[in-house]
Amino acid sequence: MDIRIFKTEQEIGEAAGKIYVDYINENPSCVLGFATGATPVPTYTYMAQQCKAGKVSFKDVKTFNLDEYCDLPKEHKNSFYMFMYDNLFSKVDLKPENIDFLDGNTDPVAESARYAKSIEDKGGIDIQLLGIGRNGHIAFNEPADEFSDEAYKIKLTESTIEANSIYFDDVPMPRYAMTMGIGSIMKARKIIFIATGKAKAQAVHDMIKGEVTPRCPASILQQHPDVTVFLDEDAASLL
Ligand code: PGA
Repeated sequence: MDIRIFKTEQEIGEAAGKIYVDYINENPSCVLGFATGATPVPTYTYMAQQCKAGKVSFKDVKTFNLDEYCDLPKEHKNSFYMFMYDNLFSKVDLKPENIDFLDGNTDPVAESARYAKSIEDKGGIDIQLLGIGRNGHIAFNEPADEFSDEAYKIKLTESTIEANSIYFDDVPMPRYAMTMGIGSIMKARKIIFIATGKAKAQAVHDMIKGEVTPRCPASILQQHPDVTVFLDEDAASLL
């Protein structure tokens, strides 16, 4: 793993965002896998600024996202689709037909097969963006007895519900989500991983220095050939 440590979240956003901008300029019809959460926001802000300044165009880029809540309308303000719309999709020139998203309101088995086929049909994911949960989850792959493969429906853990329920003020936070599986994530050709803040320090330590175990799903990244890790000093404090 290529580990890079920065002082501020903004510096991480610029450095990670620059990798995307350069990649898109060299590969205008690339396939990108995006992630939600507070962590990638500065990266999306940088990409949107660069697009607005005419330094990059997303017009032929195709995108996938890691996960989506179940039993929450796509248009609800807390859906991951709306998060992406607010933070990136509405600010760049991506074509709506090039955006694919897991549907949390349909049959999970059929949806998993559809998503896997859609990724494959577009040639696979070139760069997948990842954050990490305090419990070591990536996407919504929570600690488990075995590593998952393709997308599936998961019951969220209490730790994840506690971390994310602060965003829900009108409806209860969903208890289930559709998530890309570990197998699908590991197929991405390149992974950009970002973690910031002290609350992530233990998970980051276990991911990089711990044994590879589904009890810390992010630890599987030790076996991926191309992972760039962006950390602030707090997130790196236990390394
Ligand atoms: P966060 O979420 O960026 O909001 O901390 C990351 C995650 O749970 O994967």
